[in-house]
Amino acid sequence: MSTSIAPARSSVPALAVSLRGVSRSFAAETRGERPKLVLRDIDLEIAPGEIVSLIGPSGSGKSTLLRQVSGLDAPDTGDIRIDGTPLLGIDQRSAIAFQEPRLLPWRTIERNVELGLPRGTARAAGRSRVSELLRLVQLSDAGRLRPRQVSGGMAQRASLARALARGPGVLVLDEPFGALDALTRLTMQDLLLDIHAAEPATILIVTHDVDEAIYLSDRVVLLGEDPNAADGSGSTIRRIISVPGARPRDRADATLALLRAELLDGLGVSSHHHKPAPLQTTVRFDTF
Ligand SMILES: Nc1ncnc2c1ncn2[C@@H]1O[C@H](COP(=O)(O)OP(=O)(O)OP(=O)(O)O)[C@@H](O)[C@H]1O
Ligand SMILES: [Mg+2]
Repeated sequence: MSTSIAPARSSVPALAVSLRGVSRSFAAETRGERPKLVLRDIDLEIAPGEIVSLIGPSGSGKSTLLRQVSGLDAPDTGDIRIDGTPLLGIDQRSAIAFQEPRLLPWRTIERNVELGLPRGTARAAGRSRVSELLRLVQLSDAGRLRPRQVSGGMAQRASLARALARGPGVLVLDEPFGALDALTRLTMQDLLLDIHAAEPATILIVTHDVDEAIYLSDRVVLLGEDPNAADGSGSTIRRIISVPGARPRDRADATLALLRAELLDGLGVSSHHHKPAPLQTTVRFDTF
């Protein structure tokens, strides 16, 4: 989808994100057991306007890391900064969206988007911002509908618009397209790139889809436990891969296919799993 979107007013410039020595553990379920270390020594510098994907096995702490960056949870040790200054609780400079749209069912789509506006936004300004955002996510005709009246993809677009409403310098997305069908996911990826062009926030996105990570990002960060370390040693950054080429990228690009294989390998999935089936018949070349 190559959409032409009128450039929207960008309320806030994209902001740098810096994580230094971030670790997080959780108390064990069973009393007496040691706390469970989930993240260990995470160092990551994200440039303003950069799109960074985070991939890793289930349970490797991706959502936990996003919660740290958006201030929903705080690290045990380490330092997280946005634009060079430490996070202060739930930080107004960042916004987060999840796999489920989490819309309020009794509010219309536009009233849901409105919830994301900064507190104290004047009525008229708020209304024009909401209609601008609905246009950006291609929901102009759906503003008056309720969440149950729209498709999953539309609800997810509304959720993105709500996250964008406060003009975040950092947009944090936890598997935002994970619940959508494959085709809708592809169009949503293009929409996200259009949004990024119109409102260039720094984006940190978790995905399980290696192709999506490559298509969207400047860099892909692979999170996981060191297989040689003791169990429960916590996830660290295993690899950071810079994706070459400007966006929009060719999904069939051969260089990107190599990156894909490298990332799948890093996830412990071989991209050459299927061995050719043995020949059923043997061809013999008899000499006459
Ligand atoms: N509040 C919490 N209390 C206790 N343990 C937690 C808490 N939050 C996360 N964990 C644990 O931290 C680990 C990492 O969880 P997290 O949700 O970050 O993984 P993930 O990489 O996002 O996985 P998935 O790909 O399945 O979404 C899990 O073992 C989880 O049980
Ligand atoms: Mg998760």
